[in-house]
Amino acid sequence: MLGGERQFPPPIWLMRQAGRYLPEYRELRGRVGSFLELCYTPELAAEVTLQPIRRFGFDAAILFSDILTIADGLGQKVEFAPSGGPVLAAIRSEGELLRLDAGRVRRHLAPVLETVRLVKAALPEACALIGFAGAPWTVASYMVEGGGGTDFSAARRFAREQPKIFARLIDLLLRSIADHLIDQIDAGAECVQLFDSWAGLLDADEFDRHVIAPMRDLVARIKLARPGVPVIGFPRGAGPHYADYARRTGVDAVSVDQKMALAWARDELGARVALQGNLDPAALVTGGAALDAGIDAILRTWKSARFVFNLGHGVLPETPPEHVAHLVARVRAADAEGSA
Ligand code: CP3
Repeated sequence: MLGGERQFPPPIWLMRQAGRYLPEYRELRGRVGSFLELCYTPELAAEVTLQPIRRFGFDAAILFSDILTIADGLGQKVEFAPSGGPVLAAIRSEGELLRLDAGRVRRHLAPVLETVRLVKAALPEACALIGFAGAPWTVASYMVEGGGGTDFSAARRFAREQPKIFARLIDLLLRSIADHLIDQIDAGAECVQLFDSWAGLLDADEFDRHVIAPMRDLVARIKLARPGVPVIGFPRGAGPHYADYARRTGVDAVSVDQKMALAWARDELGARVALQGNLDPAALVTGGAALDAGIDAILRTWKSARFVFNLGHGVLPETPPEHVAHLVARVRAADAEGSA
């Protein structure tokens, strides 16, 4: 589909489709010490990747890993607190930046590539395998902030006060991320997605410098090394900058968050890139008529576009799995007129 042809009913998968809303995930997670240990144990990470495929029969599987494995691979201390949120040893000086070692990323992330190989071997032919990484800005924000759950004001301030050091961090990240994604492709990923979850925090000038410019370079590296592999970009919250992002980064598809109007995305982005999205994850928690209305609006409005059905952000942990099964059935039952 991302190669060019329109498909209706559209293919469907969900961001964060593996995870805590599934009892089988919670059961397995309870047997493993840390979240990163789960990410680096190929047999278990592969099992978790496959859980939502077995349960719902999605059209794509997304590798089970995390966007912060790159920071961990570079040698920054990364931990996931038992409450869930990441905690990192914040990078706030040139000395701390210089201690990062791009040379160790590949060896450190070898288990993630083994997960890709295991999943690829186990997946049904018709199910695509999506690799992923965090985009440079979002990964850098966690690395400088030292964690998440905030407005990343310390990271933004550091980027303004130490522009040269921050630019070097972004550059280091974009190279490491490009190499890791190329490795994922060589291990069996048929498509890759870049999550820029905090793109929405930036003003127009920062968006240009920290999102568009590094993404353009990163996408060009992937395209040069492995031409023809589709790249999906997710600049969550980018609002008015979505059009520029679709026009200038070189991505094949743009994942659209739920704040964006469907008709706008179709008309302003749809001619240039394939669309992905954008059901509100909260509607999937609620279910019922609100969920059906949300699903049908996407099917109806985007039916003429090339699109992949997805959420506007990740599945929430409180989502009832039955609602996910209902969503898949309703999308698959859509008729050619775009109504369900
Ligand atoms: O989508 C999938 O099913 C594949 C796996 C995946 C995870 N994280 C597993 C995970 C993917 C694609 C991600 C991406 C990710 N990680 C993003 C971008 C998407 C987004 O949600 O905005 C971000 C910002 C992170 C960083 C991260 N990882 C945070 C902030 C947290 C804690 C809060 C949370 O959402 O759980 C994580 C932990 C994490 N990553 C969990 C899972 C299943 C939960 C940890 C656990 O089970 O103990």
